[in-house]
Amino acid sequence: MSFIEVRNVSFGYGRKTPFEVQALKDVSFSIEKGECVSVIGHTGSGKSTLMQMLNALIKPESGEILLDGKDINENKKTEAAARFRVGLCFQYPEYQLFGETCFEDIAFGPKNMGLHEDEIKRRVSLAADFVGLSKEKLSASPFDLSGGQKRRCAIAGVMAMLPEVLILDEPTAGLDPSGRDRVLEIIKKYRENTGATVILVTHSMEIAACVSDRILVLRKGEVACFGTPSEIFSRGEELIEMGLNVPSFTKIIIALKKKGFDVNEVYTIDDAASEIKKLLKGAGV
Ligand SMILES: Nc1ncnc2c1ncn2[C@@H]1O[C@H](COP(=O)(O)OP(=O)(O)OP(=O)(O)O)[C@@H](O)[C@H]1O
Ligand SMILES: [Mg+2]
Repeated sequence: MSFIEVRNVSFGYGRKTPFEVQALKDVSFSIEKGECVSVIGHTGSGKSTLMQMLNALIKPESGEILLDGKDINENKKTEAAARFRVGLCFQYPEYQLFGETCFEDIAFGPKNMGLHEDEIKRRVSLAADFVGLSKEKLSASPFDLSGGQKRRCAIAGVMAMLPEVLILDEPTAGLDPSGRDRVLEIIKKYRENTGATVILVTHSMEIAACVSDRILVLRKGEVACFGTPSEIFSRGEELIEMGLNVPSFTKIIIALKKKGFDVNEVYTIDDAASEIKKLLKGAGV
């Protein structure tokens, strides 16, 4: 049995209204403990709905979600437990900052968990450390932070609960390249330090290719495919049909191949580097 098992899950919004939308249709997949999975899909394909389901914020209409072998929606207790074990960082989480200080914001989750005051302090300082927020910033208002710092403060609020599964819904959206790299580094560090399972929703094919063990592709509420970056990005034409793409380094290699260079199509950044090295060596550089 896998750590997370999603079995035949379906869900619709606005049932029995003219606005009815089938957001997820018979979705099944499983994720192993410690894996990093990216979720990609055209806008409206059901990514955010699925993420909210994984931490019991939305209940499947049919099907079930098992965490460590137990149905997370079995009763109120299992739902509450799932919310702490599975930390969800929403799209644009900084819009949900509310505290007078960053400390207060980051402490919100640990407080809800009913932890002792000393433990709350320890968790806040640990999470601030993970995201690189200084002690001075902890006593500042979150509204005085820069955009990137606000995003990191919001991520720290989820990390402070030390979730075994960390879900981030488009954590790098709207950030500049250095802010984006910083957030990716933070996620990597959290994963290395805690052994957590990480699920990352992204519109960036490069991020999906570079950070994930496997990629889940959603199309109109259904699982289109689930596999390693190489397995997924070797299906370039199918992805383009779904409004997705292959990573830009794959496109460069394909363009070189079309120009007659002797290169193999590649789907990971390491393989792209090897192909380019091979070319340079062949050219005597
Ligand atoms: N609260 C809601 N009420 C009604 N319909 C909704 C609601 N949230 C999402 N939907 C609809 O459900 C479908 C799936 O939406 P969802 O937000 O899960 O997609 P997404 O893949 O996260 O999209 P995006 O890439 O734009 O974030 C879409 O058709 C969307 O319009
Ligand atoms: Mg979304």
